[in-house]
Amino acid sequence: MPDPSSEAATETATVAVTGAGGSLGQALLRRWHGRGARLIALSHGSAPLDLQDRQGRPIPVEQVRWQVGEEAALESLLARVDVLVLNHGINVHGDCGADATACSLEVNALSSWRLLELFAAVAERRRGGRRAEVWVNTSEAEIQPALSPLYEISKRLLGQLLSLRAPELSRSLRLRRLVLGPFRSALNPIGVMDADWVAGQILRQADWNCSLIIVTPNPLTYLLMPLATLGRWAYTGLLRRP
Ligand SMILES: NC(=O)c1ccc[n+]([C@@H]2O[C@H](COP(=O)([O-])OP(=O)(O)OC[C@H]3O[C@@H](n4cnc5c(N)ncnc54)[C@H](OP(=O)(O)O)[C@@H]3O)[C@@H](O)[C@H]2O)c1
Repeated sequence: MPDPSSEAATETATVAVTGAGGSLGQALLRRWHGRGARLIALSHGSAPLDLQDRQGRPIPVEQVRWQVGEEAALESLLARVDVLVLNHGINVHGDCGADATACSLEVNALSSWRLLELFAAVAERRRGGRRAEVWVNTSEAEIQPALSPLYEISKRLLGQLLSLRAPELSRSLRLRRLVLGPFRSALNPIGVMDADWVAGQILRQADWNCSLIIVTPNPLTYLLMPLATLGRWAYTGLLRRP
């Protein structure tokens, strides 16, 4: 049974999702629609998002274009967002060139970090209402091989930045880390899980009030990921200056 006091279960939330045009982005938007949320789809492309529910009825979505490097332009929009899902990502597979390196770091790690800081600053100025939440989709590649060096490096960086900044950011934001195993999408056409099922599991674990949300068939991740986050928390806690 979902916890009725759970923030994720609140029906009138305004939810913004980056990477909205992708498989998981669309699946999460559909799931949130099922809970009565107001939806904002953040897309870097110009193609209109045609989102439908299971009965084929159109789902109302406010679609907003954004670009990596221009996160500050989203400041006023973020002021009306309750749950921000940082979900955009790329996988350059075996490309280890300079352009692929810059692109992977910017898209997978630094843009999400900048949005996280911006959203925390906006949330801190907010008075009243529900506590703002941010869900950061880092991936199992944070701690496991993903057969893609730059994907692993950039996702690990994002995960480590989240761990480093969590103590401060969590003063104004509820942080949730999404650690997902392989699911089918343009980014991973041979993923074993279905994106819609993964989205359902994510919301279910949010209902359970989990901050670390893990959805994967790999049992090692359930063991290693909590240890990794605990280790980082202890290490940065020891070295952090007041
Ligand atoms: N598939 C897997 O096995 C797997 C496993 C673990 C974690 N993940 C993570 O889950 C998230 C969603 O991935 P997905 O599998 O659903 O892949 P996807 O279908 O390819 O969706 C990724 C979306 O990211 C956005 N994007 C791509 N390039 C971008 C850029 N240069 N700037 C800004 N946004 C860009 C695009 O959405 P817009 O066009 O709407 O901007 C794209 O549709 C990613 O962060 C991925 O790393 C995936």
